[in-house]
Amino acid sequence: MDRQELIRNALEAKQGSYSPYSKFKVGAALLTEDGRIFTGCNIENAAYSASICAERTAVFKAISEGSRGIEAMAIVGDSDYTYPCGVCRQVIREFGKNAIIIVANSEDDYREYELEDLLPNSFGPEHLK
Ligand code: THU
Repeated sequence: MDRQELIRNALEAKQGSYSPYSKFKVGAALLTEDGRIFTGCNIENAAYSASICAERTAVFKAISEGSRGIEAMAIVGDSDYTYPCGVCRQVIREFGKNAIIIVANSEDDYREYELEDLLPNSFGPEHLK
């Protein structure tokens, strides 16, 4: 996996952010197990709760385009290391129990985690079987 390529994609996706209310831009790029990269940005709404995070935009694009299995995701935001919110962690969990999560300030300045570190003892699809 090319971590820097994933971060570059997230940085580019961040440019598409529609965030006139928070003025906080976020970009995400995910690598699927079948080797495709999908990107996303946060998209806000005047009715605030209708907004969506960058991470979920990327996941929903991947799933709707037929990919399954998240291998890794890179996230860049306007804070020093922008971490995924709880809802996004759970959405990533659905398709990437063993995903690598990279929170980056730049191509060369990032921290890397396993999803399990960010969402321990999680609930997932196998628990409904
Ligand atoms: N946001 C994301 O897109 N991802 C994160 O990891 C943190 C928060 C967005 C939601 C909202 O549009 C803005 O950042 C401020 O919370």
